[in-house]
Amino acid sequence: MRIISCKYIFIDGNFVKNKAVAFDKTIKKIAPLNELKEEFKNAEIIEYPSNTVLYPGFINPHVHLEFSANQAALNYGDFIKWLNSVIEYRQELVEKLDEELIKLKAKEMLQSGVTTFGAISSFSAELNVCKNLKQRVIYFNEIIGSNPAAVDALFGDFKNRLQESIEAKSDTLIPAIAIHSPYSVHPILIREVLKIAKEKNLITTAHFLESQAEREWLENGTGGFLEFFKNFSNTTKPINTIEGFLNAFNNCPTLFTHGVQATKEELETLNQNGHSLIHCPRSNRLLGCGRAQIEYIDNMLLGTDGLSSNYSLSILEEMRAALMMHHKADLKKLALRLINAVTENAAKALNLKIGKIETGYYADFAIFKLPNDLKEEENSNIALHTILNCNKTQNVYIGGEEVL
Ligand code: BEZ
Ligand code: FE2
Repeated sequence: MRIISCKYIFIDGNFVKNKAVAFDKTIKKIAPLNELKEEFKNAEIIEYPSNTVLYPGFINPHVHLEFSANQAALNYGDFIKWLNSVIEYRQELVEKLDEELIKLKAKEMLQSGVTTFGAISSFSAELNVCKNLKQRVIYFNEIIGSNPAAVDALFGDFKNRLQESIEAKSDTLIPAIAIHSPYSVHPILIREVLKIAKEKNLITTAHFLESQAEREWLENGTGGFLEFFKNFSNTTKPINTIEGFLNAFNNCPTLFTHGVQATKEELETLNQNGHSLIHCPRSNRLLGCGRAQIEYIDNMLLGTDGLSSNYSLSILEEMRAALMMHHKADLKKLALRLINAVTENAAKALNLKIGKIETGYYADFAIFKLPNDLKEEENSNIALHTILNCNKTQNVYIGGEEVL
């Protein structure tokens, strides 16, 4: 047993003082340090300097590690131009990917406090690394393909990858399913894959209404995607409608990503069906997609997306970007909302016993040092100054083990 003590502990949206946490693999008790010392006489005591805060480990539910080699190869600023550049340079980027690079990028996330991440995997290059990481990984096997002629082969490949990740399942490797998007996955594939998700009780995620071009294509069959699909698969019609796509997910709570071009009504439909939305502000900005209307979302999560549409995998930088992008939102309330997005909200969507400092939950912690001159101890102010002033964690624990 160990006991950890910081100036503040983030519990249920509050920064609680004069408490400590007793833990092994999971959290055993939260109480004043003296009480815990009395109760757990042989426990090792870990005391952090006085201006630190103990958070549940942060959760980044959306990253494409497969594209970790990208820095400046892809064309930013316009979604369709970007997509064409992905198709053109994908092979080159994938060839530069190796285990060392994947580990390095996982570590970059870890240093920003991320103890759990969702890896979207389309060809399973990361499984070997992910199953040996200390971090928890939601391993989202992705299905992609709109061409009916290719559906059988793609489904077969998907099932093989899924099976491989199911065989690697552990406390830290959680197999899951990603459906690429409404424009790129044939409805038959969506139906079959969701059937598997239900049977095997697997978490699901999907990109949804990321760009204006996607909306125009799905609604009218026009816009930049018309030219794209003519070149890509010699097709001229969208395979899904927005409504049909969303209806496929009824009774299957899903982590939808982006939703930048979703209307208020569509976002409310997500809320009503128990879905969550992974907001990726930097990716949205860099691909020219716009600002998601996060004010209409009940369960907002925050993701970095991959290095294919970002310049870093730091969740702290992502939170800072969100603060700047939503300039009309109340600053401090948004700061607190963002901290909740990367902890409790994400854990709830993933249905895991993480994201909270609470008895029985995994002892996944991220410790941050606050500025010395912090005076105002209002919850939202501490959240704000964590986001503004912290660039790296002091330390990280996963399942009770120190990992930095
Ligand atoms: C498709 O199969 O429709 C597709 C694949 C990759 C990117 C975009 C679309
Ligand atoms: Fe993505």
